[in-house]
Amino acid sequence: MSDPRIIVMECLRYHPERDTEPYHQRFEVPFTPEMSVLEGLQYIKDHLDGSLTFRWSCRMAVCGNCGCMVNGEPVLSCQTFLRDYHPECVRVEPLDHFPIQRDLAVDPADFLDKLQQVAPYLIPAQDRIPEDGPYRQTPEQMQDYLDTSACINCLLCYAACPQYGLKADFLGPAVLALAHRYNADSRDAGRARRMEVMNGDAGVWGCTLVGRCSEVCPKGVDPAGAINRNKPAAALDTLRRLLQSGRTCTP
Ligand code: SF4
Ligand code: FES
Repeated sequence: MSDPRIIVMECLRYHPERDTEPYHQRFEVPFTPEMSVLEGLQYIKDHLDGSLTFRWSCRMAVCGNCGCMVNGEPVLSCQTFLRDYHPECVRVEPLDHFPIQRDLAVDPADFLDKLQQVAPYLIPAQDRIPEDGPYRQTPEQMQDYLDTSACINCLLCYAACPQYGLKADFLGPAVLALAHRYNADSRDAGRARRMEVMNGDAGVWGCTLVGRCSEVCPKGVDPAGAINRNKPAAALDTLRRLLQSGRTCTP
């Protein structure tokens, strides 16, 4: 291991029970080339200020807990490296568009509420019991949803999405991508239930095709692509409902 160099990490601090406003605090952190931003935060917590609050778990881009803004970009702090910022300062802030719980930890309640609305699980046409055996599908059928199934709920796409920042009721990239993930699964029969939500005021039509969600996604999910693949289905769904109800569009 080479000798550590020093990098300045500027962290947003906010303890709602103590602070009237968020503010930035600078720390000088010794680092080696293999150290991630998350490891820099852990150094601060262990050696400089034990009250610094942030989330993490796996340290390998799997759990989705360590998302934060680094120099204004939404990233996973465990796969972002201090060496890429040195000798400049690295500024670490909580994810945009979410309320701060404490320091770098945000409140994900809005995302979790919206995720529930699209029933993010398989809804089979008929109840199955273990004795029915495995629910088989072909590799081609699996390809229909495989990319969206990689989502780790890290919320980076929400922090990057200008529409979510402007329109708080917008379901947002990951929720719509996960709705697509289950709709596209050959074992699922819950599409009609999800389309009601996806086609509503807060659904796919709220996306204006900026595409930042797909650029920042650390798992290659492409939420923008998933949303836009669903716009024709949403339009057909509206037409079908109108025909079923005997209504027509008025000019
Ligand atoms: S779609 Fe990508 S960026 Fe958005 S929550 Fe899932 S993994 Fe994270
Ligand atoms: S700590 Fe799990 S994704 Fe970074």
